[in-house]
Amino acid sequence: MSQGISESVTALRALIVGSGMIGNVHRRSAILAGAQVVGVVEKDEESARAAAERWGVLDYFDDLVTALDAVHPDVVHICTPNATHGEFSRLALEAGCHVVCEKPLTLDVAEGQALADLAEANGLVAAVPYVYRYHPLVREIRSRRIAGEFGSIHMLHGHYLQDWLLSPDASSWRVDPAAGGASRAFADIGSHWCDLIEWVSGQRITELVADTAIAIPERPAEAGPTFTTATPTTSAPKVKVTTEDISNILFRTDAGTPGTLTVSQVSAGRKNRLWFELDGEHSSAVFDQENPETVWLGALDKATILFRDPGYGSAESRRLTVTPSGHVQGWLVCFEEFVADTYATIRGGNPEGLPTFADGVRSLKIVAAVLGSAKSRAWKEV
Ligand SMILES: NC(=O)c1ccc[n+]([C@@H]2O[C@H](COP(=O)([O-])OP(=O)(O)OC[C@H]3O[C@@H](n4cnc5c(N)ncnc54)[C@H](O)[C@@H]3O)[C@@H](O)[C@H]2O)c1
Repeated sequence: MSQGISESVTALRALIVGSGMIGNVHRRSAILAGAQVVGVVEKDEESARAAAERWGVLDYFDDLVTALDAVHPDVVHICTPNATHGEFSRLALEAGCHVVCEKPLTLDVAEGQALADLAEANGLVAAVPYVYRYHPLVREIRSRRIAGEFGSIHMLHGHYLQDWLLSPDASSWRVDPAAGGASRAFADIGSHWCDLIEWVSGQRITELVADTAIAIPERPAEAGPTFTTATPTTSAPKVKVTTEDISNILFRTDAGTPGTLTVSQVSAGRKNRLWFELDGEHSSAVFDQENPETVWLGALDKATILFRDPGYGSAESRRLTVTPSGHVQGWLVCFEEFVADTYATIRGGNPEGLPTFADGVRSLKIVAAVLGSAKSRAWKEV
């Protein structure tokens, strides 16, 4: 006797918009979560055809509206440069699709809020990939904080450092405010740190003072590939850089907890060094996303190293653990878990910790406060 899969669990139909670095990560995560990738949209026909051939997708488009009409996806993944996110999300939501939109959700708080409202009014799932929430040991620290292990929090601090823009010859659409937005380093990676620290600590950043800096005053006008330190754009004319390479932030949370954050895209040897420390009245915890298999726990008389292990830890940490301890589970699996939870939510489930458009708006408010503070050189409320 054989049994078929119930018709009620037919594969979701996913449309991927943008086939660059992160588009490919969304595509593989969508497939692993059981979706069928029914189309790809790119900036022009040649790029769209190339992506379709690479991915083995039958339908390709150079225009989202045409794609939505043609393939009727259940869910649209928006993986394009930042300035396109708002319009593409609106089009997808208006077509009745669930949306996964890359961060930053938009370049403007009011536009982001309107999209969050639109999704809610239409009962559509709308998620933003703040995927560092999906490291099992991040969940472990959060669970221990909820259980009171650290006591009240005295301080939150950390950094997110990269080096792919250290070379004065490195450039990308991310450097151009028209494509990337007025904030670069902070909106691109500082936003991830703030989402994570708020989620783990259960506190919200309510005021901050920011100092931003541009280390490389000129870069090639022509955009090279993202995350490639030696770009092939050295012969392009150079233009003035107006988006920050560095942001340093002092903040206070709604519980009065003080904190600091350093963000940089020009720190040699640092690749994706997202690192945070939570210092509580009883003990401290450190997470480093480049070494996500362990957490450092500090106490007055000792420090211990906690391993990720399917046999130990909180329910959420175990739920997200897919490989045995020692077989490193990293960032790609975070994406897979995030997309799987998004699809589970579309199917009516309620998995813990899905970052939504509301979290995307929250991030936009912090970015606006950072830019405002850096300009006025004063504390700003978020
Ligand atoms: N959540 C995360 O951890 C994470 C990580 C990396 C990137 N991102 C976000 O993903 C987005 C894309 O980043 P990336 O690194 O993949 O960039 P990328 O440059 O590698 O890819 C962008 C792709 O979009 C395509 N594109 C440009 N304009 C388009 C248009 N109008 N219509 C359709 N396609 C278009 C480009 O041709 C390119 O293939 C950014 O918003 C970035 O902030 C998020």
